[in-house]
Amino acid sequence: MSAADDPSASSPTRLPSHVAIIMDGNGRWARRRLMPRFVGHKAGVEAVRNIVVACRERGIGALTLFAFSSENWQRPEEEVGLLMDLFSAALEREVGELQHNNVRVCFIGDRSAFGPGLTARIERAERATAANDGLLLSIAANYGGRWDITQAVKALCGQVQRGELGVADIDERRLAGALELANLPEPDLFIRTGGEQRISNFLLWQLAYTELYFTATLWPDFDRQAFDQALGWYAQRERRFGRTSEQLRQLNSA
Ligand code: FPP
Repeated sequence: MSAADDPSASSPTRLPSHVAIIMDGNGRWARRRLMPRFVGHKAGVEAVRNIVVACRERGIGALTLFAFSSENWQRPEEEVGLLMDLFSAALEREVGELQHNNVRVCFIGDRSAFGPGLTARIERAERATAANDGLLLSIAANYGGRWDITQAVKALCGQVQRGELGVADIDERRLAGALELANLPEPDLFIRTGGEQRISNFLLWQLAYTELYFTATLWPDFDRQAFDQALGWYAQRERRFGRTSEQLRQLNSA
């Protein structure tokens, strides 16, 4: 369901049920320590672990992380290779811990570009955690918001071509249903670390009504305290979804 369809989502005190994060600043974190960028990515994995635990403890239902964008292939070949190795190793190492913590992990994005080793680990992690019903951790890898919308349109066109769907039946709900994360409420809170204030082709459709939080903190430094600050900021937002403040007050007092 879209958050905009849920008037109760306007309560200013509620926790976000779905948080989406662009984890930016690993390279700068390492450079500031006169270390290679890769060291920053490794430190970034530690930050991921902390935020996953924090989400679980606070009862947040879904966390979606932008780990590798469709555009990140343009980075130096060595960095891309190291990142793939890092994802693969982290998956192998963390799957037991995710299992132990009742976290279900799934990947979104075009996985056709990954090597067989990484693909096998992705599939293994998804299978191993499929029955967990705690936090849903979605990792966006080789993901782009425009790619997502395009693949959804292609899927619907295929249904039209096969006579399963009429063009007139295509509406926002149906398109949303063909996107990655279709089974989740749209993100309530988007966080981008590292100081840039843009969405960078992340969940373009799904972020339509999301509260956007930007912080200069570099991702490896984004600890529980920084996360709590973002949650505190979110708690004070008035989510109107096109309504007026007066309407919200009436809805909340009903
Ligand atoms: C952006 O920082 C970060 C990335 C492109 C990689 C993010 C990956 C991780 C944090 C590891 C996550 C691992 C798992 C298993 C989810 P940047 O390199 O653009 O930093 P910069 O802006 O300082 O150069």
